[in-house]
Amino acid sequence: MGKNKGGNVPKHVAIIMDGNGRWARKRVMPRFMGHRQGVKALKSAVRYASNQGIATLTVYAFSTENWQRPQEEVTFLLDLMNKTFVQEIDELFRENVRIVLVGDRESVSPEILEVWDSAEKRTAENTGLTLNVAFNYGARQELVKATQLIAEKVLTGEMNLGDITSDCISESLYTAHSPDPDLIIRTGGEMRLSNFLLWQAAYSEIVVMDVLWPDFNEKHFSHALDEYSQRERRFGKVPVKE
Ligand code: FPP
Repeated sequence: MGKNKGGNVPKHVAIIMDGNGRWARKRVMPRFMGHRQGVKALKSAVRYASNQGIATLTVYAFSTENWQRPQEEVTFLLDLMNKTFVQEIDELFRENVRIVLVGDRESVSPEILEVWDSAEKRTAENTGLTLNVAFNYGARQELVKATQLIAEKVLTGEMNLGDITSDCISESLYTAHSPDPDLIIRTGGEMRLSNFLLWQAAYSEIVVMDVLWPDFNEKHFSHALDEYSQRERRFGKVPVKE
């Protein structure tokens, strides 16, 4: 599929991949089948984003709240993500994708961290799409952590209170290496952010789609990009005169 016809391609797209469970339930299948199908949709979204010239794609893979799901679903999801990275890493490398884990590493098991670390190291020099995978991610927890980091610097005299600016907070988040998302896509139809990129989303355009994540394809992605290109982004200012 060719470049988005609107021409105004967002630099950073973030996706809340919702609806895996409902996709499975509709087919009278166990929820894990929806997650497995969701990985296929993710692979095609990564390829499409890369072909469209989007610089950064951030996907919400596992939230800090997701640990509260039934143990077998949690185990399945963790295993699915690990296997996917092991299986796909060569192709992602060839496609020049840089993988970055955004989330809290501290409470993650060493086995999982090893897979992430090796995926990150292997692709660190890649210059194509940056794929931020939000794993064990929660925006409030991210802001608490950033606040602690900054407070520590103030306490040790490395920084003064007056040095705490909006940029300083952005630079203390897991996404410090990425610009704020221009566009956030949420599948599954729910109109909320679910603790995703709360600081970074201040001026993001949000497109909520009724499609369930495992069914999300290039056509839906293209539709979201078209919708984005028609929005007028004012960042709190008055409209620009024609
Ligand atoms: C939300 O659907 C989806 C998730 C919690 C998991 C998303 C994860 C993937 C698509 C796999 C990611 C894989 C890698 C390699 C990063 P839901 O289960 O909440 O669906 P529901 O709202 O219909 O119940």
